[in-house]
Parts: sequence; C-alpha cells; structure tokens
Amino acid sequence: MANYALDNASSHGAAHLGGLTGLFDDFTGDRLAESSRLAGARCLEIGAGNGSVARWLADRVGPGGSVTAVDIDVSHIPPYERLTVARLDLVREPPPEGPFDVIHARCVLTHLPNRETLLPALCERLAPGGTILIEDFDPFGLERAAHLLHAPAAPADVAELWSRYVHLRQRLFHESGSDRTFITRIPALLRDAGLVDVEAVTWCRSWRGGEPGSRHARATLEQFRPRLIEHGFPGHAVDTLARALDDPDFHSAGRPLCSVSGRAPY
Ligand SMILES: C[S@@+](CC[C@H](N)C(=O)[O-])C[C@H]1O[C@@H](n2cnc3c(N)ncnc32)[C@H](O)[C@@H]1O
Repeated sequence: MANYALDNASSHGAAHLGGLTGLFDDFTGDRLAESSRLAGARCLEIGAGNGSVARWLADRVGPGGSVTAVDIDVSHIPPYERLTVARLDLVREPPPEGPFDVIHARCVLTHLPNRETLLPALCERLAPGGTILIEDFDPFGLERAAHLLHAPAAPADVAELWSRYVHLRQRLFHESGSDRTFITRIPALLRDAGLVDVEAVTWCRSWRGGEPGSRHARATLEQFRPRLIEHGFPGHAVDTLARALDDPDFHSAGRPLCSVSGRAPY
C-alpha cells in the first residue's frame, strides 16, 4: 500500500486496528459528542480501519442520519445499520461529495502525501455548522511514548530497547512519507479554511503489557520487523520486545493522541 507503512491485510492488521479501538475510542467518542450535534447528522469517517468509530456514530445519528466510511482496505468493516462502506484510495481519488455534518479521521492524514490539499477539500464538504475532527499521535509526546513507567525484571535491557525501537519506528514512518508534525499544523489550516471554534485537546493514558495499547504496539512492531532488521535493530531484540509487550509488568507511559476540531460557520 503506497505511502502507508502498514497494511490492514497483514496477519497483524486486525490486532493493530483493534488496539487503536481499545486505546482511543472512548476519548474519540467524548470529543465527537462534545464538538458535534449527532442526532440526524450525515457523517463521513475517513480511513475507517475496522469501522468502530463509524459504528459508534451510526448508533448515535438515529433514523434521520447516515454514516459513510471510506478506506483503501474495507475488509475489516462489518455491515451495520445506517452505515455505507466504500473502498477509496484518498491519495488518488477525491473524498465523497458532501455536504456532511460530521467528518472524522484518526491516525490517517499524517500518512497521506496529499494531506495539505485533502484537509481543505474535506472542509469544503462540511455543511454550514458542520464539524471536522482530526486526530493523530502528538509528536510532542514522542519522549513519553519512548518511556516506560515500569519494565519487566528480565531481561535487563527492555526499557532501553523500547526507547530505541520507538525512535526508530518514528524514522521508519518518516521514510515512508508520513509527517508526524502534520497534526500540529491542523489548527492553523482549519482557520485558513474559514472554520471557527478551532480547538485542540491532547489525551494520554498509560497501558500495560497485554492491554489494547500493547496489542497495537506489538502489531506495529511485527509489521516493521523486516525493516527494523534492515536498520540494525536485530531480530532477537524484536522477539524480546514482543514478549515484553505481553507481560503485565511492562508499563508504558502511553502515547498522547491530539484531537483537533473546527466548525464551518452558518
Ligand atoms: C492507522 S490506521 C487508522 C484506522 C482508524 N482510523 C482508527 O483510528 O482506528 C490507518 C488507516 O488508513 C487507511 N489508509 C491508508 N492509506 C489510505 C489511502 N490512501 N486511502 C484511504 N485509506 C487509507 C488504512 O487502510 C488504515 O485503515
């Protein structure tokens, strides 16, 4: 999949997407509920992954509302009432025509090379009073993500390996064309697009081995295994981290998610 370093079709794809769901859906739901009027809303979910946020929206828009979920790989999105699913490559094809009352994307735009033009195109599809909510990992949180609150007693080097891995992971995404700083420019881009009530909220909770955060991290680690080895991070170190991520004594400081909202004027 060009321009996106991971692949939903990987044997680790479901765990990766499920980990994101477990980590962030409660926070994303709170942000959608506080920023948007959901009853009767026409919603667009961009890069929907396993569709968990799209289903959350479908449950809340009621009989007068609708949800469209798009992704380059829709194989993880089950059918659901009021949910229309479409396979779409957002790098090569325009987003669905609006107008939409709610547009949401999480951990997607950062990976797409056309993010600078796609974001204004999404804003143009908002109905008057409609809300856009864009979420991604906060690049200012890299050191937190690399930090362990507690490491398993053995082997002794888990904390150091984890920190090395997290920084290398950032580099691998960058080499694939992702721009982790894009989320920090979104508030200004939303204002430039004429949106009002622009707000950014960053949320973070620690997680332990075996929990959704660790399943997400392990699925990413495994998908990056060949490239990590190419970059001098040995296979036995990947194995050590994969085991540590199942150990409840592994306690990550967490990975902050930044959530930026803006509203189209009436
Ligand atoms: C990190 S996942 C995030 C999934 C979901 N938004 C979530 O937060 O749970 C990135 C998603 O973007 C999708 N994606 C990547 N490149 C894409 C493209 N060119 N067009 C549409 N979707 C794309 C992937 O298939 C994947 O589902």
